[in-house]
Amino acid sequence: MRLTLRVWRQKNASEAGRMETHEVADVSPDSSFLEMLDALNEDLIADGKEPIEFDSDCREGICGTCSLVINGIPHGPESGTTACQLHMRKFTDGSTITIEPWRARAFPVVRDLVVDRSAFDRIIQSGGFVSVNTGSAQDANCLPVGKPVADEAFDAAACIGCGACVAACKNASAMLFVSAKVSQLALLPQGQPERRARVRNMVGTMDAEGFGNCTNQYECEAVCPKEISVSHIARMNREYFAASVVD
Ligand code: FES
Repeated sequence: MRLTLRVWRQKNASEAGRMETHEVADVSPDSSFLEMLDALNEDLIADGKEPIEFDSDCREGICGTCSLVINGIPHGPESGTTACQLHMRKFTDGSTITIEPWRARAFPVVRDLVVDRSAFDRIIQSGGFVSVNTGSAQDANCLPVGKPVADEAFDAAACIGCGACVAACKNASAMLFVSAKVSQLALLPQGQPERRARVRNMVGTMDAEGFGNCTNQYECEAVCPKEISVSHIARMNREYFAASVVD
């Protein structure tokens, strides 16, 4: 395949960025999107140019590190798929592909396509944990959890914290991410002792980090590579209301 890539280049958070155009040839349709960028970087390095910075780790859709807006869509055109699991056969030979970083005030650009997502870490630190000893697998199985509840908690736990929900939202809202974490723990018996404090602290930190509010556009659900449901946002709002009244 032969492609034209329009890639965002930016030295750091304080300098202005710009689009840079690269022509790439001999791209295998079976290569992943990140492998295609790897090959471009090898060519840039061979030419004595700065390679394009982008994030990746697992490259198998489980860590949430890869964060590319591809043709205007976080993680690209294939639904339920991370950028690292996207393959070049999904694009048309000869097409132009635009690649940008997540764009949100709470995710400042570090360099090129890399953004600082430590705001998510601070939200988790404020309440996204349980402080009971869950023991080994055998001990955990001694706590009966109904199948429908276990399934719902597991669906919420599938969130990989990539931040695509924020990147897709016109308000840069992190409510899908936060609600998935709140839901997962609020549904399970292990999450009950800190249930009220958790939702208040996580929502408070989310607001303090500069994420916007949800206005029910559902863009987050549409781009989530793990297809997390917006129904978790409704549960988080109920949890937050109950915690505010009780406390
Ligand atoms: S690199 Fe881990 S999800 Fe993409």
